[in-house]
Amino acid sequence: MSYVQLTSSCFSDVLGTHGLDIGQFAALLEKTKPALETMRMQHADGSLPVLRLPEQTEDIEALMPIASRYREQFDDVVILGTGGSSLSGQTLCRLADVGFGPREGAPRLHFFDNVDPHSISAMLERLALDRTGFIVISKSGSTAETMTQFLVCLKAVQDVVGKDNAVGHFTAITEPGDKLLRRLAKNHGMTVLDHDPDIGGRYSALSLVGLLPVMIAGLDAKAVREGAARVLNPVLAGEPPEKIEAVVGAAISVGLATENNILSTVMMPYVDRLADFGLWFRQLWAESLGKQGKGTTPINALGTVDQHSQLQLYLDGPRDKMFTVIMLSCAGDGPSVDPALADDKGLAYLSGKSVGDLMDAEQRATAETLIRNKRPTRIIQLDRLDETVMGALMMHFMLETIIAAHLFGVDPFDQPAVEEGKILTRQYLAGEEG
Ligand code: PA5
Repeated sequence: MSYVQLTSSCFSDVLGTHGLDIGQFAALLEKTKPALETMRMQHADGSLPVLRLPEQTEDIEALMPIASRYREQFDDVVILGTGGSSLSGQTLCRLADVGFGPREGAPRLHFFDNVDPHSISAMLERLALDRTGFIVISKSGSTAETMTQFLVCLKAVQDVVGKDNAVGHFTAITEPGDKLLRRLAKNHGMTVLDHDPDIGGRYSALSLVGLLPVMIAGLDAKAVREGAARVLNPVLAGEPPEKIEAVVGAAISVGLATENNILSTVMMPYVDRLADFGLWFRQLWAESLGKQGKGTTPINALGTVDQHSQLQLYLDGPRDKMFTVIMLSCAGDGPSVDPALADDKGLAYLSGKSVGDLMDAEQRATAETLIRNKRPTRIIQLDRLDETVMGALMMHFMLETIIAAHLFGVDPFDQPAVEEGKILTRQYLAGEEG
């Protein structure tokens, strides 16, 4: 398996009244059975295509020429899009670049997901636009932020390379049909790739939305899907709920919320390569479950950084949170502290230790301290972090979210409440105040 999930420190036999009662947990597991059956049917008839993606490879082959062209032609590639159209690619591509440059042979990738005028001006001024490619991603093809990003970037590139040459700098990903982004891109003669209408933005990591950036970054897209398949297979094979890690996680989260009033969930990986994973999870969990007064509030954290920021609150503040600490086996990894330089008795404990030794000790200490303070804590243990493990983690949390939605009684695939703000934004832009 790509990871080990340890959940014993979420239950009342370890945490007393602060943990989930095992009987209530068993009842929730039982309630997941219809959802699992529905998923098997949806996989069989193809009506929930996200469940079919892990077994597919032909679409990845078809993307290779585009990925190769972007790798060869450009020094910088900007992915325009927001929400689910951006976060999955950002999360996956962190495997290749933690901020100090891309892998050899790959361009620098930039995920541009906000509409801050200062940032977009800085980007357009500082990138060499004649050597910059753009991938424009919008499932609906009409999101105001993405359309604005697209139109201003198109104009800037046209100004540098000319209208005809600008066409080759852009590829659009959107739903089939009469969509605004598709119309515009087609009118300019740009390549347009299909976004499956039945795969929602926040569930699109394993589709071309997440995997085209992955391929441009020089990562192995097939391995991402293989990892996802390993997590999905027990569901498809009809394993009982208690044998499916994502189902166990969902029952614990929902049980702690409904029975113990634990209404926030902290995702705390230790490795930098999972820093964006916390943001991706936050969107997935929040937008899928926060409906009709239900759901729990996701909080992202990064150890060891947040030990110096949020940990005091986590250990000693309100007892309203569950914790998922993601640890990587890293003892002995990275450079070591030279004993000759740590020649002071105050530094003796660090002398000769590697950076990985320190991270290993800190992640274990944080989890143990949370448990001693009777805070419900799930540990996800990784012995390595690569494309397969990332695919497995993403599939785990997509399944966990869908099952949690079933237990809460909400639809994981819609987001009705955000529409009001979108309508108001358009009114303001049209000059219709109030
Ligand atoms: O997950 C979702 O459905 C949303 O976050 C969308 O991804 C986001 O609103 C962007 O939508 P679109 O891809 O249609 O531009």
